Amino acid sequence: MEIIRTISEMRTAVRKARLEGGTVGLVPTMGYLHKGHLSLISRATQANRLVVVSIFVNPLQFGPEEDFGSYPRDLEGDCALAAQAGADIIFAPAVEEMYPGKTLTQVEVALLGDWLCGRSRPGHFRGVTTVVSKLFNIVQPDKAYFGEKDAQQLAIIKQMVLDLNFPVEIVPVSIVREEDGLAMSSRNVYLSAQARSDALVLNGALQQARRLYGAGERNSAKIRQEMLKMIEDAPGANVDYVEICDRSNLQPIESIDKGALVAVAVRFGKTRLIDNITLTEV
Ligand code: PAJ
Repeated sequence: MEIIRTISEMRTAVRKARLEGGTVGLVPTMGYLHKGHLSLISRATQANRLVVVSIFVNPLQFGPEEDFGSYPRDLEGDCALAAQAGADIIFAPAVEEMYPGKTLTQVEVALLGDWLCGRSRPGHFRGVTTVVSKLFNIVQPDKAYFGEKDAQQLAIIKQMVLDLNFPVEIVPVSIVREEDGLAMSSRNVYLSAQARSDALVLNGALQQARRLYGAGERNSAKIRQEMLKMIEDAPGANVDYVEICDRSNLQPIESIDKGALVAVAVRFGKTRLIDNITLTEV
């Protein structure tokens, strides 16, 4: 496995691989890899000749009060894990390589980023779509892999690819969870033992939604109320949102007739965790 730090070397490596034939898969990450990221990488190795994993903590997607400075970083550990999972190249540019001057051009998908996570993280998705556009232009992948853990990010990137005709197929990958149900996240390391155990209420509330839906409940408001009650009862939990919406356009749904995305964001102290499930049409 090769570690590349510059855009020009990255372009050269991809050009060389293309001459040899086969497709290029890209797995964009911010590093501090866990099994969620590794499942994206393994998936990419099944369908591509060359698998590029980008590791870049993107300052553009962090708000001024957010954790850009303290976001966990471990490039050495990441390289070992990515190599084991079958990555061919790690693209780990410095901030100055990606943003050498003032960034005057940004990519923004209207509407989809305005609520859910976008409401409490203004500008976040603009930062994501801008860096992902840059990565697509640098690596020019045939396929790019994104986790369903970040359901809103996935919906926004799919829309961007459609609207701007990026010649890339977006491949969604299911959420990987700890044994006790907590969705894996690089930010889980911020949690105290107490908060880590309180955080199980996220998956608990989502499973409750699944049970209610399975028992025939279709009224979103009722399901949301039950979930809110559960989460608010958990010590230390501060609800950001509990929403039931359409998986593609993220619009709220009143009556769940054709399936839905149930998405939650909850703060434990300074740590904000997100999780979601899909209810499928029955
Ligand atoms: P990051 O949080 O590092 O996540 C990288 C990718 O891993 C995303 O597509 C995310 O959805 C996926 N992922 C994270 N946890 C997962 C889990 N438990 N199961 C399955 N997939 C999981 O998302 C970002 O980075 C950034 O916004 C990025 C797209 C790289 C742009 O900077």
